[in-house]
Amino acid sequence: MKFATRAIHLPEHRVGGAIAPPIQLSTTFEHGPANEPLSDFEYIRSGNPNVNELEARLAALEDAASAIVYASGMAATTALLGTLPAGSELLLHQDCYFDTRVLARGLASRTGIGHRVLDLRDTSALQAALSEKTALVWFETPSNPRLDVIDIARVAEVTHAAGAKLAVDGTFATPAVQQPLTHGADYVMHSMTKYMGGHSDIQGGALVLRDDPSLDATLRHQRTISGSVLSPFNAWLLSRGLQTLDCRVERHAANALMVAEMLDAHPAVERVNYPFLESSPDRAVAAKQMRSGGGMLSVELAGGRDAAIGLASRVRLFVNATSLGGVESLIEHRASIEGSETVAPDNLLRLSVGLEHAGDLIADLEQALS
Ligand SMILES: Cc1ncc(COP(=O)(O)O)c(C=O)c1O
Repeated sequence: MKFATRAIHLPEHRVGGAIAPPIQLSTTFEHGPANEPLSDFEYIRSGNPNVNELEARLAALEDAASAIVYASGMAATTALLGTLPAGSELLLHQDCYFDTRVLARGLASRTGIGHRVLDLRDTSALQAALSEKTALVWFETPSNPRLDVIDIARVAEVTHAAGAKLAVDGTFATPAVQQPLTHGADYVMHSMTKYMGGHSDIQGGALVLRDDPSLDATLRHQRTISGSVLSPFNAWLLSRGLQTLDCRVERHAANALMVAEMLDAHPAVERVNYPFLESSPDRAVAAKQMRSGGGMLSVELAGGRDAAIGLASRVRLFVNATSLGGVESLIEHRASIEGSETVAPDNLLRLSVGLEHAGDLIADLEQALS
């Protein structure tokens, strides 16, 4: 079965003939007088039917042994990094979500788990950085906000040869575009707040494990103890979101490519970062591991910061807001939101291209550029 079909039909969830699954909001489940289980569930923090259903659906979509969902993407990232052994080291790609970098820095100062930031597109730099201390290599592909595309299969090979594990943050691509586990990654993290929800109204995160029952058990135990659980209502909404992910992302990507091509040809633009542009240096790697370029892009303006802020202040359809993956197009000057520690270029705007008509989006950007 193809992705779009699996997204709708897996797992088999029909209860009492209902086509849409019910929501189970109960925080507690009856048991016997000496805690004899009367169902699969006991207390909301340790398990819920809607959460289980979402996890089964995600695992099926990623060809994974298991998936564990969390209250947010950062809760999922924190959970995985929290399993790294004391004294170990994490390798991070240089362009990555700002708060992931903040989290890695905090780990180093609080727990002594070190991290190094490098360009993972450079295999010799990766080989030189890997050591017996390296427990995990982590990158986003495409990355936030520069849309760097990293060769998952190549990094997986080098990482595994050094005895370390590979985690890919697949938030920008979504499983509809890219399945990192099939290219050799061990774990995938998704912020489900973005495309999986798809309407800018749900927060959630997920870790998808290729096949690691022991890590799965550790993470589930830790989730129960830390309480970083997803609400049943959000799980229900996210299961629904996954069913339409494929067609939404197809339209996001078609729109994004048209917007990227227009921007790439515009004299006020220095550079467009979008993996499926013919001019992209990442085009070959992207074509190997992505079905489309996805809905995210960034643009660097020839006129520097002032030109970027000027464009962001003149758009009428694109909304100045953070986050991504919703039906509405968003634009953001990343350096402004990330603050003084940002490594985002000052002339860069990140665009989450929505599901509006591409012609309207292009006209909006054209008027804002003129
Ligand atoms: C690439 C990427 N990873 C992780 C996150 C964190 O996700 P959440 O906001 O759901 O915690 C974000 C949020 O923007 C992101 O863009």
